[in-house]
Order: sequence, then structure tokens, then C-alpha cells
Amino acid sequence: MVAPSKVLDRVLVLEMVRVTEAAAISASKMIGRGDEKAADAAAVEAMRAALNELAMDGTVVIGEGERDEAPMLFIGEKVGSAIGTGPKIDIALDPLEGTTITAKAGPNALAVLAVAEEGNLLNAPDVYMDKLAVGPGYPDGIIDLAKTPTENVTAVARAKGVEPNEIIVCVLDRPRHEKLIAELRGIGCGIMLIPDGDVAGVIAVTDPDTTIDMYMGSGGAPEGVLAAAALRCVGGQFKGRLIFRNDDEKSRARKWGIQDLDHIYDLEELAKGDCIFAATGVTDGSLLEGVKRLKNGTMTTESVVMRASSGTVRWVRGEHHKGART
Ligand code: FBP
Repeated sequence: MVAPSKVLDRVLVLEMVRVTEAAAISASKMIGRGDEKAADAAAVEAMRAALNELAMDGTVVIGEGERDEAPMLFIGEKVGSAIGTGPKIDIALDPLEGTTITAKAGPNALAVLAVAEEGNLLNAPDVYMDKLAVGPGYPDGIIDLAKTPTENVTAVARAKGVEPNEIIVCVLDRPRHEKLIAELRGIGCGIMLIPDGDVAGVIAVTDPDTTIDMYMGSGGAPEGVLAAAALRCVGGQFKGRLIFRNDDEKSRARKWGIQDLDHIYDLEELAKGDCIFAATGVTDGSLLEGVKRLKNGTMTTESVVMRASSGTVRWVRGEHHKGART
């Protein structure tokens, strides 16, 4: 059991939902408008404004990019209204996880963030990460990135009491996953190919309603930390290994203090101690409903906020009236 953090207690768990709600509502105005950048910018601006209302001394450790490439919510940016005096909080965020999905009005776009005490979230560089996840209820160490996809599926199938061809694996639909997909099809697995949005894809393994047993493949490393924070709260296992395509990516990693570039990360190494994960749906998805616009400018949102120390998961439905302060 993880000890509750007194530092996090002082930043109300539910306040995190107001932050992701604000980003989701703002991004939702750009659903289906074909403009990824504008959708992202809307979410970033709203999330930053909401974070700056919280009485904390926050530091963005996973954000929109490095200072010279992102004007807002860049890595290292200080946020909160009590900088220097309030609780020191590290924040991993993705104001719009699924910019293309939002631009095309596809499923599973989310506004997400995770917070933890200073130093407890991996400062992951913006490179790819090989990801492997399974839901709760399996023996520790059942999945292993050093093993082949077939070996991992076989181990999970055995523990679940089914054949490997009854296992459903979620994979990002990318040409780089051709070999992985061929291997999984070769053993008869069901593959749920998603166009984007692997935070939701990884979290889906924790929900039996999705029927997804495992998550496999590479995606953004920042998204890996966010998904790991969620799994810390609801259970499940996750392994991640950074992938470097060139020397520039390696030097970025070293700059963030990563020495062993081949390290396989466990959940607790990505998000340590107590942490809070919050997400609001932008478009409808497996985890959350998207923002809905009703008559008279009223909007509804669906969010989830969870905490590692208690394992509490709160589902929050919001009704936001035109002109009212959210
Ligand atoms: P964005 O919201 O930044 O567009 O990310 C969407 C996403 O699908 C992530 O969920 C995933 O980790 C990453 O992109 C995969 O990257 P790529 O599109 O390069 O395969």
C-alpha cells in the first residue's frame, strides 16, 4: 500500500478535474475542424490558465516540449498561484492527447494530467517508448519486454486460463508495428488497432468491458508516464523502454538525467509514491464520454480522477452552463 502524500493532500484531488475539464471543453470547440494545431493550442491555453489558479508550486516535468519549442506548458515551466510558498508538485500533462483524433472527430481524445510530489515522475524525453501492459489480477512479473510478443501473450493466456488465440491486444496502427501485428496474428490473437491515443489504449487493459487484455507497441514516452500513473492508481502492470532513433534523442535523454538508455522501466520507476491521475474525455472513447454541447450553450463533460495511495477512482459528470465559471 502506498503512503498518502501530505503534499498532494493540499492540492485537492478534485481540483485536478477542473483542470482537465477546462482543457477538454476548450479543445472540443475544435472537434472535426481539421486543425490539429488549433485544437492543441486551445487545450494548452485553457489547461495552463486552470493550473495557474491552483495554490501550488508546480513544475511541468512532462509537457508540450522543451522551452524553445513550446511557448506554453513547456518542460520546466512553473505553474500555480503559490510559487515559492505552496506545496511542490511535479506535473505530467497532455492537454490534448489525440490532436489528430480531435481534428478528425475520431474516438478516444482526452485531456490528461498526472501529479506527484517533486521528483516522483520520470522526466521522460519526447522520444518513443516500447510499451507493454496488462490489467490487474495477474502474478507480478507476468509481462517482460525482454521476451517476445508470443511469449508474453502465452504467459498471460496461461494465467487467464485461456488459449493465446483468445487474447486481445491493443496496438497503435502504424507501419512500424507490421512485424508485431504479423506475429500476433500468427498465434491467432485478436488485435484492436487504434489510430492514435495510446494513453487510453493502455488504460483500456484495466477495464474488462473493453475486452482488451494487453497493450503492446511503441508510442510517445511522455504518454507512457501518464499511462503508468493511471495504472499505479487502478492496478495492472506496465513495462517501458525508451527508443532512440539518433544521437540527438540520446543526448536529450542524458540531459534529463537518464544514464542507462536501455533500461526497462517498471510502473514505480515512471510514477513513484503517491500520485493523482485525472482525465476528461474530449471525444467519446473507451474510457470516457466526450464533451457534449446541449441547448443554450450548456456543455457536459465526463472525467475520471484517481489516486494511488487510496486506489479511489472517482467518475465525475460535469454540467457547465454558458458564461458560468467552471
Ligand atoms: P498527439 O496527441 O500528440 O497527436 O499524440 C497522439 C499519439 O497517438 C499518442 O497517443 C502516441 O503515444 C503517439 O501519438 C504515437 O506517435 P506516432 O503518431 O508518431 O506514432
